Amino acid sequence: MIYIIPKPTDTPGDNSTSMVMDALTKMGEPYKVLDLSSVDPFNLPVTDATIWACGIKQDGVQFELLQALELENRVINSTKAIAACASKVVTTARLFNIGAPSPATCFTNDRKVLQKFVDEHDGRAVYKPVYGFDGNGIYMFHSADEVKEEPPFYVQECVKNDRDFRIFVIGNKAVGAIQRVSDHLTHNIHQGGCGTAIEIPKEMAE
Ligand SMILES: Nc1ncnc2c1ncn2[C@@H]1O[C@H](COP(=O)(O)OP(=O)(O)OP(=O)(O)O)[C@@H](O)[C@H]1O
Ligand SMILES: [Mg+2]
Repeated sequence: MIYIIPKPTDTPGDNSTSMVMDALTKMGEPYKVLDLSSVDPFNLPVTDATIWACGIKQDGVQFELLQALELENRVINSTKAIAACASKVVTTARLFNIGAPSPATCFTNDRKVLQKFVDEHDGRAVYKPVYGFDGNGIYMFHSADEVKEEPPFYVQECVKNDRDFRIFVIGNKAVGAIQRVSDHLTHNIHQGGCGTAIEIPKEMAE
């Protein structure tokens, strides 16, 4: 049996959980919904199942519950993968580690270092919350004074950005891609971007 944990930030216009459910129904694959808030980590409600986490709340509770469920179930994506993707610092460190192309990035507590990074990158940079998602809290700035958030600061060189690509990977294989387009900085669907399925660009498949 597949148990689906719905993505908490789904909206009627951007509902990835219902797309997963529709696809499973089309395939004739049975599933149930698992309400994470009802899970007792010391008395697991399901074992030997596949648990498909479409999303979880960053509330200090749900990630722990998922780790407990993983003791007796196959959790997709694994909590290790979720942790790596949740932190932009870890994601970026991993990209640099394997030599994958990535915008220049700075992670610091120090506003002077922040200003130096801006000065070295044409007088502008993009601020992103370390554990951000759906494009929330991302903005371009031109001086460290404009950044009102508390440290630490994760900022990136501003790269050419007329669209956003998402490549879907199963195991080590790229199996699908979408692009999202909007007329502002963040092209996420949650920020009003328009998504379409595309052929996987060759360099991204690799
Ligand atoms: N360095 C950058 N330069 C220009 N635009 C950027 C940069 N980083 C992000 N953006 C814009 O902001 C959007 C969201 O950024 P990003 O994908 O890094 O964060 P997120 O969607 O909030 O989180 P995640 O993808 O990790 O769930 C990108 O799709 C892109 O449109
Ligand atoms: Mg994104």
